Amino acid sequence: MRRAVCPGSFDPVTNGHLDVIERISPVFDEVVVAVLINKSKSGLFSTEERMELLRETTKSLPNVTVDSFHGLLVDFCKAHDIGVIVKGLRAVSDFDYELQMGQMNHSLASVETLFIPTNPLYSFLSSSLVKEVATYGGDVAKLVPDPVLRALGAKLAG
Ligand code: PNS
Repeated sequence: MRRAVCPGSFDPVTNGHLDVIERISPVFDEVVVAVLINKSKSGLFSTEERMELLRETTKSLPNVTVDSFHGLLVDFCKAHDIGVIVKGLRAVSDFDYELQMGQMNHSLASVETLFIPTNPLYSFLSSSLVKEVATYGGDVAKLVPDPVLRALGAKLAG
């Protein structure tokens, strides 16, 4: 069983995340999208809301499941028999920190990290910018899937 994890905050999932998930799903038998539970940082969406949006937007991919984790990612990998972490790289600026984390995760638990270059259409895209643009009334319809667009509208409307 070739099992990979695609970890992140996903607050909320964007078209950039989905592009990575869709492209790696045929490469592995199973892909677990794992949402970090960060108790020290409250985001716009709760962990359960983020997971529900991920479930809804990945439902056409039968080998993709959605889970959450806290603590070390390598402990989640060990507990779920996952040998590979997959990360999308948007630009060179992502590389330094991602390399450092990949090396740390390998030294902690021999878990491998594979990097996939994101679609250049989404190289400027991040959940934080989506939230900022949407907060001030900008159009993010091309940047997030429809369920996220609706959820952002509802959340920001109060
Ligand atoms: O979407 P993000 O916020 O860029 O995702 C970052 C994430 C969740 C992948 C990273 O912060 C992480 O793996 N956190 C878990 C804690 C951990 O394992 N830290 C050591 C990493 S070397």
